[in-house]
Amino acid sequence: MSWTKVLASDALSPGARQVVTVGSRKILLVNHEGQFYAVDNACPHLKLSLKKGKILDGAIVCPWHRSAFDLSTGDAKEWITWPPVVSKAMGMVSQEKQLPVYPVRVEDGSILVDVGE
Ligand code: FES
Repeated sequence: MSWTKVLASDALSPGARQVVTVGSRKILLVNHEGQFYAVDNACPHLKLSLKKGKILDGAIVCPWHRSAFDLSTGDAKEWITWPPVVSKAMGMVSQEKQLPVYPVRVEDGSILVDVGE
């Protein structure tokens, strides 16, 4: 484990999110209902940013084609559902993938993330 301090915990209020760089990765930090999550800021479909994705039922929804990934596990709860007609074809040619997620903890007022590098 290699924990990296990324942000003061009071800098990310409930509902807030921020992209931070840890090693070579862009990590999206999310405070969802008082719990911190760290996920890749790159949707596993086309590597586009998830920063503006809505959060529904504990999953972040990609703003591009609306795949949805569980914030805790990264499991795909939905895979490419937008736009309605084209998404079915896109989903067939693109294998469902998991969103990388990372352990997060708070220590001495700081958020720490372990990206395993
Ligand atoms: S880029 Fe996220 S589902 Fe296509």
